[in-house]
Amino acid sequence: MQTKKDLLGIKNLTAEEILMLLKMAKAEKPKVKNPMLRDDSLRQISMATLFYENSTRTKLSFLLAGDYLGAITNDLNISTSSVAKGETLIDTGLTLDSMGINIIVIRHSMAGSAKLLAENISAAVVNGGDGSNEHPTQALLDLFTIWEHKGSFDNLKIAILGDINNSRVARSNVFGLTKLGANVTLAGPATLVSSNIAHLGVTITNDITKAISDADVIMGLRVQLERQKAAYFPSLPEYANFWGLNESHLKYAKPDAIIMHPGPVNRGVEISTNLIDGNRSVIYPQVENGVAIRMAVLKYLSNVGAKTGENVIKLL
Ligand code: NCD
Repeated sequence: MQTKKDLLGIKNLTAEEILMLLKMAKAEKPKVKNPMLRDDSLRQISMATLFYENSTRTKLSFLLAGDYLGAITNDLNISTSSVAKGETLIDTGLTLDSMGINIIVIRHSMAGSAKLLAENISAAVVNGGDGSNEHPTQALLDLFTIWEHKGSFDNLKIAILGDINNSRVARSNVFGLTKLGANVTLAGPATLVSSNIAHLGVTITNDITKAISDADVIMGLRVQLERQKAAYFPSLPEYANFWGLNESHLKYAKPDAIIMHPGPVNRGVEISTNLIDGNRSVIYPQVENGVAIRMAVLKYLSNVGAKTGENVIKLL
């Protein structure tokens, strides 16, 4: 299988490529918590994170994934960089190219920013979230977590709840889940779930009970206040009252349903504290899997272990 130069979204990956990345992540996962297993297979790779939006999980797990595989990793602090002096995105990317950076992980509020960068520089570009468009590594870690818990995707019912319109996590998950054979239901208030998303092959509802009924997986989403241009609901307490997931909803789901959330969670808004900390929650396993998935992605883009398992560095 030919590896791609960049990872910009799930939309353009095949089911085969997704499954290969999940299998690679499974092989890398023991290295997350067992330092003795870490190696230096990416010692010839230099990676930089370029985050124009806030992040805890995505940025740190990319840096750690690189570190656990022996890569050279650096974060460019945007607020103290020359971006603050007016340097453009492409000029910033070309500057990192000139320094020998092989992989850039970018997060930006503009949809299409990762693609723009990828088309103009030599380094491999990973989309760490571009506006409301895509967040491929989040979806991959979500798929990995579902695969671990459910064994396959065939005919699973996945309910994704909340601010669907503004969620890059929902979009990337929809692309991945539908490619792998799962049934996806998107639910939220009518102002946050456009009916035109149905063309992506999903079910849309504004009824939370209907969405959760017989679900194998329930995924909550944070309300993306930073992307909302108007007031789409009266107040957060009212949103929580009508749309917050709590224990009373669980009787509708399958008895072994798991509860997921990409984080950061606003406790008591999209999900109750009891559910976040309860035994159905896989929110922290998702975080652990996030490091494993990012190790797999870095190896894939470095062409290490993706095809043959050989230690071949062939990036540019
Ligand atoms: C998500 C993001 O940034 O899109 N967070 C993450 O990467 N874990 C979700 C969010 O911010 O709500």
